[in-house]
Amino acid sequence: MDIRQATIDDLLGMQNANLLNLPENYTFKYYLYHALTWPELSYVAVDPAGRIVGYILAKMAEEPSSEASGHVTSISVLRPYRRLGLANRLMKQSQQAMVAHYNAAYITLHVRKSNRAAISLYRDALGFEVHAMEKGYYADGEDAYGMRFVFKPKD
Ligand code: ACO
Repeated sequence: MDIRQATIDDLLGMQNANLLNLPENYTFKYYLYHALTWPELSYVAVDPAGRIVGYILAKMAEEPSSEASGHVTSISVLRPYRRLGLANRLMKQSQQAMVAHYNAAYITLHVRKSNRAAISLYRDALGFEVHAMEKGYYADGEDAYGMRFVFKPKD
């Protein structure tokens, strides 16, 4: 499976994968906003036929701050392609680009408290830590963990 930077032509495929995988969905305009504003940060995993089987949609924080920080808006992998290391590779590509292009000091994301697979990916495989608990963050009232990965000088 190939991992490559997402282009405008990939956005519908990314949106489709998101709709299949997650209850947190976004307008096409929001995908476009990511791709036009931070084109280096979003990636897709494609099968040999070129179909999108996973994606990471990422951005930089827009609030003024002393340190630049990246944010993972959404990541998912289609069910038959899970546990192949694709999410890990997508995250690492985006992380590298956040540092290389924007000098990010850290990365943030939100994840449902019940999402054991994603929490394990972030915490155990990638080294994120829980930074905050946000009560009722999701539309259905579920709490979120706010997680954070701080780059070390060598990252
Ligand atoms: N159970 C336990 N640990 C898991 C699981 C799981 N089901 N899936 C991944 N992990 C952990 C493991 O440590 C794994 O390493 P290992 O396979 O060597 O044990 C590590 O994460 C890396 O796994 P990958 O194969 O890279 O992960 P995958 O490509 O399967 O994608 C993802 C993981 C994105 C969470 C996938 O399960 C998915 O798409 N889920 C539905 C959508 C979703 O929940 N997205 C995240 C929402 S939060 C957000 O978008 C910011």
